[in-house]
Amino acid sequence: MCGIVGYVGRRNARDVIIHGLEILEYRGYDSAGLAITEGGRISVVKKTGYVARLAKATERMGGGCGIGHTRWATHGAPSEINCHPHTAGKFTVVHNGIIENFAVIKRRLESKGRKFLSETDTEVAACLMDDLYKGDPTEALAAAMKKLKGAFAFAVLCADCPGEIFLMKRHSPLVVGLGDGECFAASDCSAFCGYTDTAVFMKDGEIGVMGEGVFTLYDGNLVKKTVRTEKIGGGAPCGQPAEDFMKKEIFETPAALRDTVNAVFGDDSLKKRIIDIFSKNDKVVMTGCGTAYNACLMGKSLFERVLRVPVEAEFASEFRYKNPIVDDKTVVVAVSQSGETADTLAAVRLAKSLGADVVALTNAGRSAITREADLTLLTAAGPERAVAATKSYSAQAAAFLCVATVLSYDMKTVEKIREEICCLPSLASKALASAGEVKALAALYGKKRSVFFIGRGPDYALAVESSLKLKEVSYVHSEGFAAGELKHGTLALIDRDALVIAIVTQRHTAEKTLSALYEVKARGGKIMIVTPFDDLIAENRFDAVIKTPPSSGLTAPVTAMIPLQLFAYYMSKERGINPDKPRNLAKSVTVE
Ligand code: F6R
Repeated sequence: MCGIVGYVGRRNARDVIIHGLEILEYRGYDSAGLAITEGGRISVVKKTGYVARLAKATERMGGGCGIGHTRWATHGAPSEINCHPHTAGKFTVVHNGIIENFAVIKRRLESKGRKFLSETDTEVAACLMDDLYKGDPTEALAAAMKKLKGAFAFAVLCADCPGEIFLMKRHSPLVVGLGDGECFAASDCSAFCGYTDTAVFMKDGEIGVMGEGVFTLYDGNLVKKTVRTEKIGGGAPCGQPAEDFMKKEIFETPAALRDTVNAVFGDDSLKKRIIDIFSKNDKVVMTGCGTAYNACLMGKSLFERVLRVPVEAEFASEFRYKNPIVDDKTVVVAVSQSGETADTLAAVRLAKSLGADVVALTNAGRSAITREADLTLLTAAGPERAVAATKSYSAQAAAFLCVATVLSYDMKTVEKIREEICCLPSLASKALASAGEVKALAALYGKKRSVFFIGRGPDYALAVESSLKLKEVSYVHSEGFAAGELKHGTLALIDRDALVIAIVTQRHTAEKTLSALYEVKARGGKIMIVTPFDDLIAENRFDAVIKTPPSSGLTAPVTAMIPLQLFAYYMSKERGINPDKPRNLAKSVTVE
C-alpha cells in the first residue's frame, strides 16, 4: 500500500513524480504529496484525494530532485496533515509500510521535547532520523533502521544535501531506475519504465543514495555493496482507457487466457519443473488473499477433479499464524497477482522455513514472492490497474487447469482437456458478448440492498468471487456460499428485496442448485441464473438469465466468471461509483 516515487536528474522532477504517482495510484489514493528541492530549498505540497488534484496544485513547480507519495491510510485519517511527505528538522520523508514500534519511539522523542503535527508513524520515523543526524544522512538512516520495527520503504530528502535522495528498505518494495545522468526510485518499476529499462531491485536492509546519474548502495552497516542491475521491460506504460480500467481489463481476458495457456503448454522445461516439484511432494496447499484465495478455491476444485488428489486451500493471513501442518513433503502454491501481498509473502516465508517447496503463481515476474519461490508460474495477464482483480483471476484459474493437465497420468483424458483449454480464449470472447444484457440487468437491480450468489463445486468458488467483486466495486451487501447451505440459515434473510444469483455450470448438480433457487422464489426473492444450459433456461422460471458459452464442466467455470465480473462493473457504474478506485481499498496490500 502507498506508492513512493523519487527522481534526480535534468528533467523536471515534478513531472516525473506526478507521472509515476498516477501509475502507482493503484497502491492507494486517499491523498498525495510531493517535495521538490530547488535552489537549496525543499518545497512540500500535499492534497487529499486523487493524484490529479496534486498535479493541478503543482503545475508551476520546477527543480530536478524530489520525492512523491500516494497514500493508503494506515495511521491517521486521510487528511492533508497526515499526507506524506513529512518533515522533521532537516529530513523530509515519504514512506510505504508500517512502523510497528512508532508509539514507543514517539514517546521517547516527545520526552526530548520533539513535537508532532500528524498522527502518522512516518512523521515519527522522520523525526527519529533527524534526532540521530550528526552530519551524514546515511548514518542517520542506518541508525534509524536499527531502531525501527516493521515494514518500510523510505525515500528521504535532507536539507543539507540538495540533489540527493536517500533510500532505505525492509519488506516493502523499492526499485531504483538508472538512466543517463538521472536516477529514479519507486515502489514498482512501472512508475519509471517509460524512461529507463535498467533497474536495481533493493534488498531488505539496504540503504541507497541517488544523485544525478550516480547510485550508491550500502548494507545496514554502511559497507558499500556492488550494484546489480536488471533489465526491465521498457516503453511507455498504458495510458488511461476510454472508459474504465476495470472494463478494459475484463475485455482483455481472452488475451490473458491465451498467453497464460501458451506460457505453460509452450514451455517444455517449465512443464518438466512442474512435474518435478509436484511429484516429489505428498501434499498440496494453495494459499493467497482475497481474489487470489478465491482462485485457490477454484484451483482446489479443478485439481481434485482432474488429479484425484486432496488439496488444502488456506487464506494466507490465517496460514501464517496457525502453525500450519506443512513439512518437507508439502508443496505450497502461493497465488498473488501483485506478488507482493504482505500476508502471502509471510506465508511463503513460513512454508519455506518448514521445509516446503513453494510455487508462486503470480502476474508480476520480478515481485517479492518470485524471489522466495522455488518455481514461478507466470499468469501472462498483462498489467492490471483497476483495484478489482478480473483478468488475473481468470488467468489464475486457467493456469491451475493447465498445471493439473501437465500433472495428470491419464493421457486420454488429458488430450481432451488440453483441447478444451485451448478453446478458452474464444469461449471468453463469446462470454464478453453478453455485456449489453448484463448492463441491462445491472440497471434493473442497481438499487438492491443485498445480493447472494450460490453454486456447488467450482461454482461455489465462483459464487464467493462474484460476491467479493460486487461488494468491492458497488458497495452492495453480498454473500457467496454453497447452494446447499442456503436452507441452513441464510434463507432467513430472503425477502422481496433480495436477489439470489445461482451459478450453474455443472450438469450433475444443476437440479439441486435450482431447488435452492426456487426456495428463494417461494419466499418472494428475485432469482437469476448464470448457466450455459439451454434446457434450464427454457424452464422460464427465473426473473433474469445470463447465458454463458457452452463447454465442458472444467472450462465452463473459467468463462462464467466474465459476465459476473461485468455485472459487478455495471452495478458500480449504475450506483455512480468509480470502479477503478473503490473507497478504502488499494490494489496492493503490502501491510498486515
Ligand atoms: C479483489 C482484489 C484483492 C486481491 C488481494 C490479493 O478484487 O483484488 O482481494 O486479490 O488483495 O492481492 P494479490 O493477488 O496481489 O496478492
